[in-house]
Amino acid sequence: LRRVRAQWETTLALLKPDLLADAARVRAVEQEIGQQFRVQERRQIAWTRAQAEAFYAEHQGRPFFGRLVGYMTSGPFVALALAGPQAVSQWRKTMGGTRPVQMRVRNPASLRARFGLTDTRNSFHGSDSAETARRELAFLFGDSKLDRNWEHTSPQAG
Ligand code: TYD
Ligand code: MG
Repeated sequence: LRRVRAQWETTLALLKPDLLADAARVRAVEQEIGQQFRVQERRQIAWTRAQAEAFYAEHQGRPFFGRLVGYMTSGPFVALALAGPQAVSQWRKTMGGTRPVQMRVRNPASLRARFGLTDTRNSFHGSDSAETARRELAFLFGDSKLDRNWEHTSPQAG
């Protein structure tokens, strides 16, 4: 008999510039996040245009790309490495879908429904798969001095 255990993962969360502008909201959000995930890394970042374009390369050529890059370079944001059982899908669920106005109807408890402003200024990012999470975590925290293995984050491992 094989024991099945909930899969421990690490995902990338961003608290985007519009949220960072409001310190009280950042504290409230981080407190909620801390109840649900183990925060492995936290870093405040300000991107150059080139960095934002590289992070969002998959969206190059889409009509919102310029807006998105402009927004993500409008001020500092916070990057978090969040670990927990199925952290990738759990964080996407907590955050809610891309469009805050739609989320206020479909999922009013989600963070984007509560804090997001517009389709572009939607306050949060979450990796969309384990594969994406590894790439995005390396992009944001790849120079971390700590020894990291983003694929094996279970405290019970071994
Ligand atoms: P996407 O990866 O589709 O959404 P998500 O962040 O929910 O994974 O798009 C990346 C970001 O691009 C999104 O968070 C905000 C911006 N965006 C727009 O501004 N307009 C849009 O119509 C879409 C789809 C995304
Ligand atoms: Mg996405």
